[in-house]
Amino acid sequence: MEKDTLILSFESSCDETSVAVIKNGKEILSNIIATQIKSHQRFGGVVPEVASRHHVEEVTHCIDLALNEAEVTYDDLDAVAVTYGPGLVGSLLIGIMAAKTVAFAHNLPLIKSNHLAGHIYSANLVADLKYPFMALLVSGGHTEIVLVRAPGEFETLGDTRDDAVGEAYDKIGRVLGINYPAGKQVDEMAAKGKDIFDFPRAMVQEDNLDFSFSGLKSSFINRVHHADQIHEELNKDDLAASFQGAVLDILSNKVFRALKQHPVKQLVVAGGVAANQGLRQCLKDDIEKRNLDMDLIFPPLRLCGDNAAMIGAIAQIQYDKKDFADLTVNADPSLDF
Ligand code: KG4
Ligand code: ZN
Repeated sequence: MEKDTLILSFESSCDETSVAVIKNGKEILSNIIATQIKSHQRFGGVVPEVASRHHVEEVTHCIDLALNEAEVTYDDLDAVAVTYGPGLVGSLLIGIMAAKTVAFAHNLPLIKSNHLAGHIYSANLVADLKYPFMALLVSGGHTEIVLVRAPGEFETLGDTRDDAVGEAYDKIGRVLGINYPAGKQVDEMAAKGKDIFDFPRAMVQEDNLDFSFSGLKSSFINRVHHADQIHEELNKDDLAASFQGAVLDILSNKVFRALKQHPVKQLVVAGGVAANQGLRQCLKDDIEKRNLDMDLIFPPLRLCGDNAAMIGAIAQIQYDKKDFADLTVNADPSLDF
């Protein structure tokens, strides 16, 4: 039997400091997540300088907790992995410095991982991935349809032309008086409301796999402001349901268009917005309706948001390919596939 591989992984691209120990890219021995959301809420979004400061304060403690919870020492590790992009440059650099330091001090190979690839490979922690598979990546910063042809080989088929879907949730949430990040609460309100406002479904008729959410967002905000001006009372649950109805129509339309072009056996939905209950139900129903023989894989809620376990999962693929980095690794804030 082959020896197990243990990877200590770091994620600090935005407002979560996370350190994990992952066995063979599949098993989570620990996944410590220190969230900073409370510090950013009063500003209505993530403040980069505040985020960096928190990462500095948290990262060493997170390493200790991750090793303790996994019941391993530095001597048991085979590699160190870290997110090097995309994300906030100051935040990324803290994780990168911590990972480099551990790698150098303990003479371990260093792996630089793509945050987006990490989100997709969070699915590997709960399912056996079969290639090629399709991934819908929906987060605060990204909305992409990605074909994963082979381990670690990504092809972006569709992307957003403007806002990311999570960003749109957060912006319309603010208009509804919801704290950042608003996605979860909008989702809960949507479940109680009705889709009656008939918001636009941008680009669904177009024969491409790209998205646009800024028109939907503006239409929502204009509707609410107009109602304010004429002192009309709108039902917030119905507003949320109408926004979410448009989002789900757009996502579902483009995903099934992509699946028609590239029939695969698995659809992975990953990223913060993959926590959306409406999206989970909608894609499940759509697969049944179309009678498709396809597994729908949603990572569990705790692995949808940013976390280091997902970085350990993609890093294992890189480890197997001996795709190692040296100590000159820098942050790449606008990294893509
Ligand atoms: O992946 P993530 O944790 O961070 C980024 O890499 O962006 O995603 C965060 C985003 C936020 O915009 C948040 O509002 C959204 O995910 N989100 C949701 C839900 N839970 C989190 N959006 C819709 N429905 C949810 N249940
Ligand atoms: Zn993310």
